[in-house]
Formats: sequence, structure tokens, C-alpha cells
Amino acid sequence: MQSAQCGSKLAPPDLQDMTAAMPRLGSAIMVDTFSYETLYSEKSVDTPLNPGVHAKYDFAVAYPAPETLPLDGLIQSLQSAVDSDSTKVLAELAYYPHQLGALELREYTAQKLATDRGFTVTPDEIALTNGSGEALGLVIQALTNPGDVVLAEEFVYMGTTAQLRRFGADIRGMAMDEGGIIPEALDTQITALAAAGEKPKYIYVIPEHQNPMGSTVSAERRKAILAICHKHGLPILEDDCYVDLRFKGDVQPAFRALDDSGIVVYVASYSKLLAPGLRLGYFTASPELMRRALSFKLGSGPNQFAAIAIEGYLRNNLESHKDNFNPLLKAKCNSMTAALEEHFGSSGATWSAPEGGCYVWLTMPEGSDIASIRDEVFEQGVGYVAGTNFEADASGRIGHNSARLCFAFESVEKNAEGIALLAQLFKQHGAM
Ligand SMILES: Cc1ncc(COP(=O)(O)O)c(C=O)c1O
Repeated sequence: MQSAQCGSKLAPPDLQDMTAAMPRLGSAIMVDTFSYETLYSEKSVDTPLNPGVHAKYDFAVAYPAPETLPLDGLIQSLQSAVDSDSTKVLAELAYYPHQLGALELREYTAQKLATDRGFTVTPDEIALTNGSGEALGLVIQALTNPGDVVLAEEFVYMGTTAQLRRFGADIRGMAMDEGGIIPEALDTQITALAAAGEKPKYIYVIPEHQNPMGSTVSAERRKAILAICHKHGLPILEDDCYVDLRFKGDVQPAFRALDDSGIVVYVASYSKLLAPGLRLGYFTASPELMRRALSFKLGSGPNQFAAIAIEGYLRNNLESHKDNFNPLLKAKCNSMTAALEEHFGSSGATWSAPEGGCYVWLTMPEGSDIASIRDEVFEQGVGYVAGTNFEADASGRIGHNSARLCFAFESVEKNAEGIALLAQLFKQHGAM
């Protein structure tokens, strides 16, 4: 074995003395901490890292329970891909992935969209991304200049609003009811904004099992919203992240399936159907918009191992996976809503009746502030995300008395126990 001093040659005596005096690699050098104070970029923000702590009853998360993930199936599908053609798998791993991501998963995704969502695109019109969060960010960058007005549901997924704000969007909330965006109110809002010289640039919608409110937009409303968007020349950024998690009622046609003009940008994900840790989402849009969105992509397409596992697993197991997984979601949702009925039924609170997805939206009576007690309630055992976090316009005006409760993560039993404790804690803190 060669020594660190280049083979058997020793360093000259003066260097030997110096190296002896130097600290050994790995031992601490006692110097003042280097200061970056004057070096940070103007745009950098000192953002705390997520502590990753779970409450005893964690309704604050946004993903299904680990034990429901199809680990064996994903591993088997990787193994079968290796067994059937290891040279091909090696080639897929040896090179940087294509900018659009693995071809086989794009082919599968195109088939899935045709079968499940009723619209046809070629595999080359689909870009796989590092989760759908990346897809949303790329499209947002391609469409947004600082100061642009963008419309989003009045309570909406904060990952998207964070990206919109990061790229300078001025987000305004669209009025909603239990059926999602209200078309007439949208039309009035856009007309009023345009009259005030604030024509919106595009709208962002989560039409199936909305995050956080759990609502689904009917086909009729979708058609009406499309007509309004055509009238005002506004693209629709459709986020179909939760569409596979339906356990009740009928799936509604995608905006993209109702309109082939290019006005709809369609984004979806394998995170909620399979596992967020796989980091695989995708989008499809009109060709130039796709190219412009992809111009913001740093590096190549997403992880090929994950793509191989997902494609093999879903090609053979999509329906059985949903048949196993969605009834469990339903049972979890039912146990949470039954417990809400039991413990919040006479409090004046209301809650949504989801047909799928992961969330129940709880609204306490006007004047009840469950946003300010969130941290204490978390410490005492129940996690939730307060409505203020989802306000599209971040006004802090409308979300104090509401919360998103994720029913997908805890067990059926823990959902019931956690809601009982939540009622007790709300009473203790004077919120109920
Ligand atoms: C509505 C919605 N869109 C997109 C995402 C991003 O998910 P991912 O990047 O894991 O695909 C989430 C995650 O919670 C979400 O709720």
C-alpha cells in the first residue's frame, strides 16, 4: 500500500517538521468561526429546517402511513427489470437520465393518463420531475414575472404558494364552497381585477380532493371555469396530485381532458399513490411552454431506479394497489369524521366530507382561534396545520378558526383517539 507521502519516498526534512506540527486530518482546528455575514446573496433567506418531529397523533403530515407503502412490490419490480435485462438497467443507471426522464415510465404515464384521466399525450409530451413540486416550480417560473397576479383557491397547498411567492407572484384567493371554486364568483373577480388594471396571469387549481379542503370540482363547474378562462385568456395550472386516492363517488374528468387547446397545464404525482420518498411527479403542457419550463430545470431527469420500480410495479399492480389502499383510506377517513361527530358535533364546528385524498378540513365557529394554540396542542399530543398557513393571499384574515387534519397517516384507532384528545385540548385552551 502506498503511504500518504507518495510511495516509499519521505518528504524532505523541513516538510516533515511542518507536517508533524500540523493537526492530523479529522482533528479540530481551533479558529474563529468563519463569518458569512457580508457574503449571503440578496435572495437567500435563513429558513429553519423542518424538525421532522411527530405529535403522538399526527394529523399535520401530508402523506400516507409508511406501513401502507408497497415496498415488496417496488423491490420485486426492480429485481424483475434486472433479471430480464440487466444490461439495459445498467445502461439506464450509467448515464445521466434524459431531461424528460425514463422513457418506460413516460410511456406508462401516457397510458395511465389515457385510461384514468381521459386524454391522450405522447410520452415525449410528458416530463418526469423530482416530485410534482418540481413540475409546479418549473411551470411557475416559465409563466411568472415578479408582481404578476395569480389566482389560487382561497385556501391552498402551501408548497405551491411558497414557490409562487418565491418567484414574485401576487397571489389572490378564489372564493370556494364545498364544491371547490365557484365559477360565477371567479368570473366576477377576474372582471373586477382587469377593471382595476390587475389582469391575472393564470389560475392554479387542485380539482380532486383539494389540499387542504378536500373538495372536488364537478364536471359542470370545470366546463364553466374553462369557459371563463378562455374568455379572459387565462391558462389553468391543474394539480391532480390526489386523483388516485378516491374511495367514494365518481372521478371527475380532468380539466385537461375537457380541453385540448393548450390552455391547461397538467401536473400530477406518484407521491401520494405510492410514496413521496420516490420523488417522482410529472407534467404535460403545450410544446413551447414545456420547453421553457424545462429550461429552468437544473440537471437531468429524475432518479432512474425509482422510475424503473414505479413503472414495473404500477404496470402490473395499479388496480390491486388501489383496491388495497383506498378502502383503508376510507376506513381512516370514516373513523376521523365519526370521532368529529362525536366530540365536535355540538360545538358549532363543521368539517368536510372527503371522497378521497388525505384531508378533512375542520372549521371551528367564528372567533375561535386554533392557529395561535397550534404549537401547544402539538406538544400535548395532536398535530394539525392551521388554516392561516393555507391562505392564498397570506392575509392572516380567514384561517384562524380552521385546520387541515390528515386522516391518511395514523391508524383507524389513532384517528378516533386523536380527535377525542383534540376536542379535550381545544376545550382546555378555550377554543371550543
Ligand atoms: C396539492 C399538492 N401538489 C403537489 C404536492 C407535491 O408533492 P410531490 O412533490 O411529492 O409530488 C403536494 C404535496 O403535498 C400537494 O399536496
